[in-house]
Amino acid sequence: HKKLAPFPKDFLWGAASAAYQVEGAWNQDGKGPSVWDVFSKIEGKTFEGTNGDVAVDHYNRYQEDVRLMAEMGLKAYRFSIAWSRILPQGEGKVNEQGVQFYEKLVDELLAHGIEPVVTLYHWDLPLYLQETYGGWESRRVIAAFKDYCRILYQRLGKKVRYWVTMNEQNVFTAMGYRWELHPPNVSDLKRMFQANHHINLAQAEAILLFKELVPTGLIGPSFGYGPVYPASANPADVLAAENGEAFNNGWWLDVYCKGQYPKVIWQYLAEQGLTPVVEKGDLELLAAAKPDFLGVNYYHGGTVAQNEYEQQAASPQREKTFSGIDPYHIQPADEQQASPEKALFTNVENPYLTKTAWNWEIDPVGFRIAMRRLQDKYNLPLFITENGLGAIDVLTEDGTIEDDERIAYLQTHILEIQKAISDGVEIIGYCTWSFTDLLSWLNGYKKRYGLVYVNRNEASELDLRRIPKKSYYWYQRVIAANGELP
Ligand code: BG6
Repeated sequence: HKKLAPFPKDFLWGAASAAYQVEGAWNQDGKGPSVWDVFSKIEGKTFEGTNGDVAVDHYNRYQEDVRLMAEMGLKAYRFSIAWSRILPQGEGKVNEQGVQFYEKLVDELLAHGIEPVVTLYHWDLPLYLQETYGGWESRRVIAAFKDYCRILYQRLGKKVRYWVTMNEQNVFTAMGYRWELHPPNVSDLKRMFQANHHINLAQAEAILLFKELVPTGLIGPSFGYGPVYPASANPADVLAAENGEAFNNGWWLDVYCKGQYPKVIWQYLAEQGLTPVVEKGDLELLAAAKPDFLGVNYYHGGTVAQNEYEQQAASPQREKTFSGIDPYHIQPADEQQASPEKALFTNVENPYLTKTAWNWEIDPVGFRIAMRRLQDKYNLPLFITENGLGAIDVLTEDGTIEDDERIAYLQTHILEIQKAISDGVEIIGYCTWSFTDLLSWLNGYKKRYGLVYVNRNEASELDLRRIPKKSYYWYQRVIAANGELP
């Protein structure tokens, strides 16, 4: 075994969150409603009906949260901006108080030596844009997004160096337009691919405008990446895995990084009449917008076999309960409608991996594979913008949270980053998901990710007290040692 290289001196040890999952204050200080403010209130859509009206009240407690980050030694904090706080209707009149909230948050972070990493879009589309134009299915929303970005670049561009455009476009388009598990609660593949195309265009517009207005900053998308493995060395399975990579990942990453849709998948979808309408100038726009880095959210990958194995695939039917939903890995067999990927691959179980309580594979080596593959394929610096363990955490009677499972998860994943760096992969930083506990979109407060416990549950806000978990103190030591784990 070769010697591991040290982490770069300026490596950004971070943690992440998203507006809807932490802020609360859903209608405070002029914020307009987002699609999530409505969707989460539809009966049966979220775990025990949880919603983000209060969430963990970060909007009103950001100073305390930043103090805790600083005490931990955090170097970077990734958060998203609620579009409808800036523009209550998604376009038109600016809500000054909303802009000021993020200015104050950024100033607070900088005053504590923490690099802000701003996500422009983490799923909370302004409701007005959905209701008036049909959301991302309308090209009008691309222009609205560009205007929203312009405001943020102008107001925060001098202070914020790292920007993320879209968070997990692969996840939110599938959840929203295929599985009816996120707003806009649709199940229609044709509409999904069209909305997705518009989001690609919006992403590209955001990058081009950024280059103009924030020449000193760096911008890129955060993609939910999972490497796809073949079930065996049978060339038919290997081919299926290549199909899986292209369908699950390349469909977005090639557009972001190479400015084009992967031809094999395009051809395949065209045969099914599923490709989006592309207008004059679209492809030029996609090709012109080059990200500076690739944001990677890593939880796990998937394993596939050639399609003939479909019937005998040993994977048990996944239950459609809230605890079992895994946006990265929904089995086509669960689906009522046709699966466009049916002939390309079949998802199968991987016998080599253990799983979390929510059935997500734990695969640290896959993380190293991911980092190497992505660099090989796209040759951009990587920024790990999410990685973490969702678990049931228990506040003990003596007031501690012994989340050893999370520590083990983070430790093994951080070691793989160091190995990838030693392999020659360029990595800017690593954000654990998440800093404080937060609202899991579909799993309420049962599934927790934080390094800091928040004392609330589905039924009650309790006192929303912040209590550092054991993993908080552990990560503090990791950061102090710049990743040289004891
Ligand atoms: C990512 C999202 O998909 O995974 C986060 O960017 C999300 O917003 C995280 O919370 C974990 O997902 P879940 O469903 O376990 O809360």
